[in-house]
Amino acid sequence: MIIEPRMRGFICLTAHPEGCAQSVKNQIEYVKSKGKINAPKRVLVVGASTGFGLASRITAAFGNDAATIGVFFEKEPAPGKTATPGWYNSAAFEQEAKKAGLYAKSINGDAFSKEVKQQTIDMIKADLGQVDLIIYSLASPVRMHPETGVLHRSALKPIGQTFTDKTVDFHTGNVTQVSIEPAVQEDIDNTVVVMGGEDWKMWTDAMKKAGVLADGATTVAYSYIGPEVTSAVYRKGTIGQAKNHLEATAFEITDSLKDIGGKAYVSVNKALVTQASSAIPVIPLYISLLYKTMKAKGLHEGCIEQMQRLFADRLYNGGEVPLDAEGRIRIDDWEMRDDIQEAVKTLWAQADTETLKEIGDLAGYKNDFLNLFGFGFQGVDYLADANEMVQIESIS
Ligand code: NAI
Ligand code: NA
Repeated sequence: MIIEPRMRGFICLTAHPEGCAQSVKNQIEYVKSKGKINAPKRVLVVGASTGFGLASRITAAFGNDAATIGVFFEKEPAPGKTATPGWYNSAAFEQEAKKAGLYAKSINGDAFSKEVKQQTIDMIKADLGQVDLIIYSLASPVRMHPETGVLHRSALKPIGQTFTDKTVDFHTGNVTQVSIEPAVQEDIDNTVVVMGGEDWKMWTDAMKKAGVLADGATTVAYSYIGPEVTSAVYRKGTIGQAKNHLEATAFEITDSLKDIGGKAYVSVNKALVTQASSAIPVIPLYISLLYKTMKAKGLHEGCIEQMQRLFADRLYNGGEVPLDAEGRIRIDDWEMRDDIQEAVKTLWAQADTETLKEIGDLAGYKNDFLNLFGFGFQGVDYLADANEMVQIESIS
Protein backbone atom coordinates (compact mmCIF):
# COMPACT_ATOMS: atom_id res chain seq x y z
CA MET A 1 0.00 0.00 0.00
CA ILE A 2 1.02 3.65 -0.31
CA ILE A 3 1.97 4.83 3.17
CA GLU A 4 1.66 8.48 4.17
CA PRO A 5 2.29 10.14 7.52
CA ARG A 6 -0.87 10.42 9.66
CA MET A 7 -0.17 12.81 12.53
CA ARG A 8 -2.05 12.72 15.80
CA GLY A 9 -0.60 15.20 18.30
CA PHE A 10 2.88 14.10 19.35
CA ILE A 11 2.75 10.89 17.39
CA CYS A 12 2.46 9.67 13.88
CA LEU A 13 0.10 6.73 13.44
CA THR A 14 1.91 5.30 10.44
CA ALA A 15 5.49 4.29 9.70
CA HIS A 16 7.26 3.68 6.41
CA PRO A 17 9.18 0.39 6.25
CA GLU A 18 11.55 1.45 3.47
CA GLY A 19 12.12 4.85 5.04
CA CYS A 20 12.94 3.21 8.38
CA ALA A 21 15.33 0.89 6.55
CA GLN A 22 16.94 3.92 4.88
CA SER A 23 17.37 5.55 8.28
CA VAL A 24 19.12 2.44 9.62
CA LYS A 25 21.35 2.24 6.53
CA ASN A 26 22.32 5.90 6.86
CA GLN A 27 23.29 5.35 10.50
CA ILE A 28 25.33 2.26 9.60
CA GLU A 29 27.17 4.22 6.88
CA TYR A 30 27.97 6.97 9.37
CA VAL A 31 29.44 4.55 11.92
CA LYS A 32 31.46 2.75 9.25
CA SER A 33 32.81 6.07 7.95
CA LYS A 34 34.25 6.84 11.40
CA GLY A 35 36.36 3.69 11.53
CA LYS A 36 36.83 0.87 14.00
CA ILE A 37 36.16 1.27 17.72
CA ASN A 38 37.81 -1.10 20.18
CA ALA A 39 34.47 -1.95 21.84
CA PRO A 40 32.95 -5.19 23.22
CA LYS A 41 31.90 -8.04 20.97
CA ARG A 42 28.78 -9.26 22.81
CA VAL A 43 26.25 -6.55 23.51
CA LEU A 44 22.71 -6.44 24.90
CA VAL A 45 20.63 -3.34 24.20
CA VAL A 46 17.42 -2.86 26.18
CA GLY A 47 15.34 -0.28 24.28
CA ALA A 48 17.11 -1.11 21.03
CA SER A 49 14.57 -0.17 18.37
CA THR A 50 14.59 3.65 18.18
CA GLY A 51 16.47 6.73 19.34
CA PHE A 52 19.64 6.36 21.39
CA GLY A 53 19.20 2.62 21.91
CA LEU A 54 19.03 1.85 18.18
CA ALA A 55 22.02 4.13 17.56
CA SER A 56 23.92 2.30 20.33
CA ARG A 57 23.15 -1.06 18.76
CA ILE A 58 24.28 0.16 15.34
CA THR A 59 27.49 1.60 16.82
CA ALA A 60 28.32 -1.66 18.61
CA ALA A 61 27.56 -3.84 15.58
CA PHE A 62 29.08 -1.74 12.81
CA GLY A 63 31.80 -0.06 14.87
CA ASN A 64 33.38 -3.34 15.96
CA ASP A 65 31.42 -6.28 14.52
CA ALA A 66 29.63 -7.00 17.79
CA ALA A 67 26.98 -9.67 18.19
CA THR A 68 23.88 -7.89 19.50
CA ILE A 69 20.64 -8.85 21.18
CA GLY A 70 18.00 -6.11 21.10
CA VAL A 71 15.00 -5.90 23.43
CA PHE A 72 12.12 -3.54 22.62
CA PHE A 73 8.36 -3.11 22.76
CA GLU A 74 6.94 -2.48 19.30
CA LYS A 75 3.73 -3.19 17.43
CA GLU A 76 3.96 -5.66 14.58
CA PRO A 77 2.22 -4.93 11.28
CA ALA A 78 -1.20 -6.19 10.25
CA PRO A 79 -2.62 -6.18 6.71
CA GLY A 80 -3.39 -2.54 5.88
CA LYS A 81 -1.91 -1.31 9.15
CA THR A 82 1.75 -0.42 9.52
CA ALA A 83 3.98 -1.57 12.36
CA THR A 84 5.54 0.98 14.72
CA PRO A 85 8.83 2.43 13.44
CA GLY A 86 10.97 0.46 15.89
CA TRP A 87 9.67 -2.74 14.34
CA TYR A 88 10.78 -1.73 10.85
CA ASN A 89 14.07 -0.33 12.18
CA SER A 90 14.82 -3.64 13.86
CA ALA A 91 13.86 -5.69 10.80
CA ALA A 92 16.24 -3.57 8.72
CA PHE A 93 18.97 -3.74 11.35
CA GLU A 94 18.85 -7.54 11.44
CA GLN A 95 18.95 -7.69 7.66
CA GLU A 96 21.99 -5.43 7.43
CA ALA A 97 23.70 -7.33 10.26
CA LYS A 98 23.10 -10.61 8.48
CA LYS A 99 24.56 -9.21 5.26
CA ALA A 100 27.65 -8.22 7.23
CA GLY A 101 27.90 -11.67 8.82
CA LEU A 102 26.97 -10.40 12.29
CA TYR A 103 24.86 -12.18 14.89
CA ALA A 104 21.69 -10.18 15.67
CA LYS A 105 18.54 -11.33 17.41
CA SER A 106 15.64 -9.45 18.90
CA ILE A 107 13.04 -9.88 21.63
CA ASN A 108 9.77 -7.95 21.39
CA GLY A 109 8.04 -7.63 24.75
CA ASP A 110 7.84 -5.78 28.05
CA ALA A 111 11.39 -5.31 29.33
CA PHE A 112 10.02 -4.51 32.80
CA SER A 113 8.67 -8.06 33.13
CA LYS A 114 10.45 -11.05 34.63
CA GLU A 115 9.52 -13.12 31.57
CA VAL A 116 11.36 -10.92 29.08
CA LYS A 117 14.42 -10.80 31.34
CA GLN A 118 14.40 -14.60 31.52
CA GLN A 119 13.88 -14.94 27.77
CA THR A 120 16.87 -12.64 27.21
CA ILE A 121 19.05 -14.57 29.66
CA ASP A 122 18.11 -17.83 27.95
CA MET A 123 19.02 -16.37 24.55
CA ILE A 124 22.38 -15.13 25.83
CA LYS A 125 23.14 -18.52 27.38
CA ALA A 126 22.22 -20.39 24.24
CA ASP A 127 23.92 -18.12 21.70
CA LEU A 128 26.59 -15.91 23.29
CA GLY A 129 27.34 -17.44 26.70
CA GLN A 130 27.79 -14.02 28.28
CA VAL A 131 27.65 -10.33 27.36
CA ASP A 132 30.31 -7.64 27.94
CA LEU A 133 28.12 -4.57 27.56
CA ILE A 134 24.50 -3.80 28.42
CA ILE A 135 23.00 -0.59 27.11
CA TYR A 136 19.88 0.39 29.01
CA SER A 137 17.87 2.85 26.89
CA LEU A 138 14.22 2.45 27.80
CA ALA A 139 11.84 5.37 27.55
CA SER A 140 8.30 4.52 28.56
CA PRO A 141 5.31 6.34 30.01
CA VAL A 142 4.21 3.26 31.98
CA ARG A 143 5.66 0.35 33.91
CA MET A 144 3.88 -2.67 35.25
CA HIS A 145 5.79 -3.49 38.42
CA PRO A 146 6.93 -7.13 38.27
CA GLU A 147 6.52 -7.73 42.03
CA THR A 148 3.24 -5.94 42.75
CA GLY A 149 1.48 -6.02 39.38
CA VAL A 150 0.69 -2.31 39.81
CA LEU A 151 0.70 -0.27 36.58
CA HIS A 152 2.63 2.95 37.28
CA ARG A 153 2.23 5.99 35.03
CA SER A 154 4.95 8.63 34.84
CA ALA A 155 4.13 12.34 34.84
CA LEU A 156 5.88 15.29 33.21
CA LYS A 157 5.20 17.97 35.79
CA PRO A 158 7.01 20.67 37.75
CA ILE A 159 7.50 20.21 41.47
CA GLY A 160 6.42 22.79 44.06
CA GLN A 161 4.81 25.42 41.88
CA THR A 162 2.85 25.95 38.70
CA PHE A 163 5.13 26.36 35.71
CA THR A 164 4.29 28.90 33.01
CA ASP A 165 6.41 29.54 29.95
CA LYS A 166 6.45 29.34 26.17
CA THR A 167 5.96 26.23 24.14
CA VAL A 168 5.57 25.52 20.45
CA ASP A 169 3.22 23.27 18.53
CA PHE A 170 5.84 22.04 16.09
CA HIS A 171 3.26 21.07 13.47
CA THR A 172 1.89 24.62 13.14
CA GLY A 173 4.76 26.72 14.52
CA ASN A 174 2.38 28.45 16.94
CA VAL A 175 4.14 29.67 20.07
CA THR A 176 1.83 29.91 23.08
CA GLN A 177 2.02 30.11 26.84
CA VAL A 178 1.61 26.82 28.64
CA SER A 179 0.84 26.35 32.31
CA ILE A 180 1.43 23.06 34.08
CA GLU A 181 0.15 22.40 37.56
CA PRO A 182 2.69 21.03 40.03
CA ALA A 183 3.01 17.33 40.72
CA VAL A 184 1.57 15.67 43.80
CA GLN A 185 3.83 13.24 45.67
CA GLU A 186 2.21 10.29 43.91
CA ASP A 187 3.23 11.70 40.50
CA ILE A 188 6.82 11.96 41.66
CA ASP A 189 6.85 8.44 43.10
CA ASN A 190 5.29 6.94 39.99
CA THR A 191 7.74 8.71 37.67
CA VAL A 192 10.67 7.40 39.70
CA VAL A 193 9.23 3.87 39.52
CA VAL A 194 8.84 4.09 35.73
CA MET A 195 11.96 6.02 34.66
CA GLY A 196 14.28 5.63 37.66
CA GLY A 197 16.92 2.96 38.10
CA GLU A 198 15.02 0.11 39.77
CA ASP A 199 14.43 -1.87 36.60
CA TRP A 200 18.00 -1.29 35.39
CA LYS A 201 19.28 -2.91 38.60
CA MET A 202 16.74 -5.74 38.25
CA TRP A 203 18.29 -6.48 34.85
CA THR A 204 21.87 -6.55 36.08
CA ASP A 205 20.91 -8.52 39.24
CA ALA A 206 19.08 -11.18 37.20
CA MET A 207 21.87 -11.40 34.65
CA LYS A 208 24.60 -11.64 37.26
CA LYS A 209 22.71 -14.35 39.11
CA ALA A 210 22.32 -16.29 35.86
CA GLY A 211 26.05 -15.98 35.14
CA VAL A 212 25.57 -14.19 31.83
CA LEU A 213 27.67 -11.12 32.73
CA ALA A 214 31.27 -11.44 31.58
CA ASP A 215 34.10 -10.40 33.89
CA GLY A 216 34.52 -6.65 33.61
CA ALA A 217 31.08 -6.20 32.07
CA THR A 218 29.94 -2.62 31.62
CA THR A 219 26.43 -1.23 31.65
CA VAL A 220 25.34 2.22 30.52
CA ALA A 221 22.04 4.09 30.95
CA TYR A 222 21.11 7.51 29.56
CA SER A 223 20.23 10.71 31.35
CA TYR A 224 19.58 14.36 30.54
CA ILE A 225 20.31 17.64 32.29
CA GLY A 226 19.58 20.57 29.95
CA PRO A 227 19.32 24.32 30.45
CA GLU A 228 17.63 26.64 32.93
CA VAL A 229 14.62 27.25 30.63
CA THR A 230 13.55 23.62 30.70
CA SER A 231 14.63 22.82 34.25
CA ALA A 232 11.23 23.33 35.92
CA VAL A 233 9.64 20.70 33.68
CA TYR A 234 12.71 18.53 33.20
CA ARG A 235 15.61 18.29 35.63
CA LYS A 236 13.82 19.89 38.62
CA GLY A 237 10.51 18.25 37.68
CA THR A 238 9.18 14.73 38.11
CA ILE A 239 11.33 13.26 35.33
CA GLY A 240 14.41 14.87 36.90
CA GLN A 241 13.68 13.01 40.14
CA ALA A 242 13.66 9.80 38.13
CA LYS A 243 16.97 10.74 36.49
CA ASN A 244 18.47 11.47 39.94
CA HIS A 245 17.40 7.98 40.96
CA LEU A 246 18.81 6.45 37.78
CA GLU A 247 22.14 8.22 38.33
CA ALA A 248 22.31 7.05 41.97
CA THR A 249 21.53 3.50 40.85
CA ALA A 250 24.68 3.45 38.71
CA PHE A 251 26.76 3.48 41.91
CA GLU A 252 24.65 0.70 43.44
CA ILE A 253 25.10 -1.45 40.36
CA THR A 254 28.84 -0.83 40.29
CA ASP A 255 28.95 -1.96 43.93
CA SER A 256 26.98 -5.09 43.13
CA LEU A 257 29.37 -5.96 40.27
CA LYS A 258 32.60 -5.44 42.26
CA ASP A 259 33.47 -9.14 42.42
CA ILE A 260 33.35 -9.48 38.64
CA GLY A 261 35.04 -6.11 38.06
CA GLY A 262 31.92 -4.72 36.42
CA LYS A 263 30.94 -1.06 36.13
CA ALA A 264 27.77 0.95 35.60
CA TYR A 265 27.81 4.37 33.95
CA VAL A 266 25.27 7.03 33.20
CA SER A 267 25.86 9.04 30.06
CA VAL A 268 24.23 12.46 29.87
CA ASN A 269 23.13 12.87 26.28
CA LYS A 270 22.12 15.82 24.11
CA ALA A 271 18.50 16.92 23.65
CA LEU A 272 17.24 15.36 20.44
CA VAL A 273 13.99 14.78 18.63
CA THR A 274 12.75 11.32 19.57
CA GLN A 275 9.30 9.92 20.27
CA ALA A 276 10.03 10.33 23.98
CA SER A 277 11.19 13.97 23.88
CA SER A 278 8.51 15.36 21.56
CA ALA A 279 5.86 14.63 24.20
CA ILE A 280 7.50 16.90 26.80
CA PRO A 281 6.15 20.48 26.85
CA VAL A 282 8.67 23.30 26.24
CA ILE A 283 11.38 20.88 25.02
CA PRO A 284 10.44 21.16 21.31
CA LEU A 285 10.82 24.97 21.44
CA TYR A 286 14.18 24.62 23.18
CA ILE A 287 15.31 22.01 20.65
CA SER A 288 14.34 24.16 17.68
CA LEU A 289 16.44 27.06 19.05
CA LEU A 290 19.27 24.70 20.02
CA TYR A 291 19.39 23.07 16.58
CA LYS A 292 19.56 26.47 14.88
CA THR A 293 22.42 27.54 17.13
CA MET A 294 24.39 24.28 16.99
CA LYS A 295 23.98 23.89 13.22
CA ALA A 296 25.27 27.45 12.68
CA LYS A 297 28.41 26.56 14.67
CA GLY A 298 28.86 23.18 13.00
CA LEU A 299 28.26 21.36 16.29
CA HIS A 300 24.95 19.65 15.59
CA GLU A 301 24.69 15.91 16.20
CA GLY A 302 21.90 13.34 15.95
CA CYS A 303 21.54 10.09 17.93
CA ILE A 304 24.08 8.22 15.82
CA GLU A 305 26.76 10.92 16.04
CA GLN A 306 26.20 11.06 19.81
CA MET A 307 26.47 7.30 20.30
CA GLN A 308 29.48 6.95 18.01
CA ARG A 309 31.21 9.63 20.10
CA LEU A 310 30.12 7.95 23.35
CA PHE A 311 31.76 4.70 22.28
CA ALA A 312 34.85 6.06 20.54
CA ASP A 313 35.77 9.05 22.75
CA ARG A 314 34.37 8.08 26.14
CA LEU A 315 33.75 4.38 26.84
CA TYR A 316 36.37 2.80 24.57
CA ASN A 317 38.93 5.55 24.01
CA GLY A 318 41.80 3.28 25.09
CA GLY A 319 42.22 4.96 28.48
CA GLU A 320 40.19 6.25 31.41
CA VAL A 321 36.52 7.04 30.87
CA PRO A 322 36.27 10.81 31.43
CA LEU A 323 33.63 11.64 34.06
CA ASP A 324 32.19 14.83 35.57
CA ALA A 325 32.26 15.68 39.29
CA GLU A 326 29.14 13.52 39.83
CA GLY A 327 30.71 10.53 38.11
CA ARG A 328 28.72 10.86 34.88
CA ILE A 329 29.83 10.64 31.26
CA ARG A 330 29.01 13.88 29.43
CA ILE A 331 28.26 13.88 25.72
CA ASP A 332 25.96 16.85 26.18
CA ASP A 333 29.21 18.85 26.39
CA TRP A 334 28.64 20.71 23.13
CA GLU A 335 24.98 21.45 23.93
CA MET A 336 26.00 22.82 27.34
CA ARG A 337 28.86 25.00 26.07
CA ASP A 338 28.56 28.56 27.41
CA ASP A 339 28.40 30.15 23.95
CA ILE A 340 25.62 27.77 22.86
CA GLN A 341 23.58 28.25 26.00
CA GLU A 342 24.02 32.06 25.94
CA ALA A 343 22.80 32.16 22.34
CA VAL A 344 19.80 29.94 23.04
CA LYS A 345 18.87 32.02 26.08
CA THR A 346 18.84 35.21 23.98
CA LEU A 347 16.74 33.51 21.30
CA TRP A 348 14.34 32.13 23.92
CA ALA A 349 13.48 35.67 25.06
CA GLN A 350 12.75 36.67 21.44
CA ALA A 351 10.78 33.59 20.42
CA ASP A 352 7.18 34.01 19.30
CA THR A 353 5.10 32.66 16.43
CA GLU A 354 6.47 35.33 14.04
CA THR A 355 10.15 35.32 15.01
CA LEU A 356 10.51 31.55 15.37
CA LYS A 357 10.46 31.10 11.58
CA GLU A 358 13.75 33.03 11.49
CA ILE A 359 15.43 32.28 14.80
CA GLY A 360 14.42 28.65 15.23
CA ASP A 361 15.01 25.50 13.23
CA LEU A 362 11.41 24.38 13.06
CA ALA A 363 12.03 22.85 9.65
CA GLY A 364 14.83 20.76 11.13
CA TYR A 365 12.60 19.71 14.00
CA LYS A 366 9.78 18.67 11.68
CA ASN A 367 12.14 16.82 9.38
CA ASP A 368 13.65 14.89 12.29
CA PHE A 369 10.17 14.10 13.57
CA LEU A 370 9.10 12.74 10.17
CA ASN A 371 12.37 10.79 9.98
CA LEU A 372 11.48 9.00 13.24
CA PHE A 373 8.62 7.35 11.35
CA GLY A 374 10.56 6.68 8.18
CA PHE A 375 9.28 9.68 6.23
CA GLY A 376 11.27 12.40 4.45
CA PHE A 377 14.29 10.31 3.40
CA GLN A 378 16.10 10.83 0.11
CA GLY A 379 16.20 7.74 -2.04
CA VAL A 380 12.84 6.38 -0.90
CA ASP A 381 9.94 6.42 -3.36
CA TYR A 382 7.03 7.39 -1.15
CA LEU A 383 4.55 7.22 -4.03
CA ALA A 384 5.29 3.56 -4.67
CA ASP A 385 3.53 0.63 -3.09
CA ALA A 386 5.28 -0.39 0.12
CA ASN A 387 5.03 -3.74 1.85
CA GLU A 388 3.79 -3.02 5.36
CA MET A 389 4.04 -6.70 6.35
CA VAL A 390 7.82 -6.68 6.89
CA GLN A 391 8.86 -9.28 9.45
CA ILE A 392 11.78 -9.38 11.86
CA GLU A 393 13.74 -12.47 10.95
CA SER A 394 14.71 -13.63 14.45
CA ILE A 395 11.16 -13.15 15.77
CA SER A 396 8.95 -14.58 13.05
P1 NAI B 1 12.86 6.29 22.31
O1 NAI B 1 11.41 6.50 22.56
O2 NAI B 1 13.39 6.60 20.95
O3 NAI B 1 13.29 4.77 22.64
C1 NAI B 1 12.69 4.04 23.65
C2 NAI B 1 12.98 2.57 23.49
O4 NAI B 1 12.44 1.86 24.62
C3 NAI B 1 12.38 1.90 22.25
O5 NAI B 1 13.28 0.91 21.76
C4 NAI B 1 11.13 1.20 22.80
O6 NAI B 1 10.69 0.07 22.06
C5 NAI B 1 11.66 0.77 24.15
N1 NAI B 1 10.62 0.48 25.15
C6 NAI B 1 9.72 1.34 25.69
N2 NAI B 1 8.96 0.68 26.61
C7 NAI B 1 9.41 -0.60 26.64
C8 NAI B 1 9.06 -1.76 27.38
N3 NAI B 1 8.09 -1.75 28.30
N4 NAI B 1 9.72 -2.91 27.13
C9 NAI B 1 10.72 -2.97 26.20
N5 NAI B 1 11.11 -1.90 25.49
C10 NAI B 1 10.47 -0.73 25.71
O7 NAI B 1 13.61 7.14 23.43
P2 NAI B 1 15.04 7.84 23.55
O8 NAI B 1 14.84 9.29 23.43
O9 NAI B 1 16.05 7.15 22.72
O10 NAI B 1 15.34 7.56 25.10
C11 NAI B 1 16.22 6.57 25.57
C12 NAI B 1 16.87 7.09 26.84
O11 NAI B 1 17.64 8.27 26.54
C13 NAI B 1 15.87 7.51 27.92
O12 NAI B 1 16.38 7.18 29.19
C14 NAI B 1 15.85 9.03 27.77
O13 NAI B 1 15.45 9.69 28.95
C15 NAI B 1 17.30 9.28 27.45
N6 NAI B 1 17.61 10.60 26.87
C16 NAI B 1 16.86 11.12 25.84
C17 NAI B 1 17.14 12.39 25.34
C18 NAI B 1 16.35 12.98 24.22
O14 NAI B 1 16.45 14.18 23.99
N7 NAI B 1 15.60 12.22 23.48
C19 NAI B 1 18.28 13.18 25.86
C20 NAI B 1 19.06 12.50 26.87
C21 NAI B 1 18.70 11.27 27.37
NA1 NA C 1 16.26 4.17 22.73
